Amino acid sequence: MNDKQRVAYSAAQHVKNGMIVGLGTGSTANYFIEELARRCSEDSLRIQTVASSVVSTIKAQQLGLPLLAMEHVNRLDLYVDGADEVAPDMTLLKGQGYDLVREKLLAKACDSFLVLIDASKRVKRIGQNFPVPIEVMPFAWRLVQRSVATIGGHGTLRQTANQDGLAVTSHGSLVLDVVFESNIDGKTLNERLNAIPGIVEHGIFSGLTRAVFCGHDGQVDEEWA
Ligand code: 5RP
Repeated sequence: MNDKQRVAYSAAQHVKNGMIVGLGTGSTANYFIEELARRCSEDSLRIQTVASSVVSTIKAQQLGLPLLAMEHVNRLDLYVDGADEVAPDMTLLKGQGYDLVREKLLAKACDSFLVLIDASKRVKRIGQNFPVPIEVMPFAWRLVQRSVATIGGHGTLRQTANQDGLAVTSHGSLVLDVVFESNIDGKTLNERLNAIPGIVEHGIFSGLTRAVFCGHDGQVDEEWA
């Protein structure tokens, strides 16, 4: 078992009968979905799930997990997902994938958001290792790029993997990957980005985390807010 599998296994033990559980996106979230499916078939766990992306929908379907469409729920008990960075105050950076909007909706709608990482994801400040992904309405990208520059960010449009076009999210947004030169903290940056028109969503998750499960050297550290 690697560290990602270990944290996924630990988080899955928090799932109880009758819960509505949000399924995250990414390699760590996939391990969680697998363990959840195992518990449903071997431990007779009875739950319903809501997926945060097309990829996690397909994964859940393949494993036979009962899925609810997001438009059919107004709350969840638990949401479990990975992250790209976790700051000491549990602010997160997410969204190197294409489903940031759904991910943040689920993180906001749940009673408990459990974040699964390995030690490489811990950072002193958000934006230390990755640019901040910002989903923008396609016609607004230049205006948003300029607004972001006024708060110290240098944004470039994300390209497709083979660099022959622009990356487009599940909702038809473009993505500005923004590097912030200053040491502005994640919480402040979250507030400033929330105030810019034309931004559909951005990758800073502030004040949403209930617990961080961090795998390192064969162990899992649980940190609860
Ligand atoms: C996708 C995400 C992922 O949770 C994040 O990129 C972590 O992925 P992984 O578990 O594969 O390291 O935010 O938008």
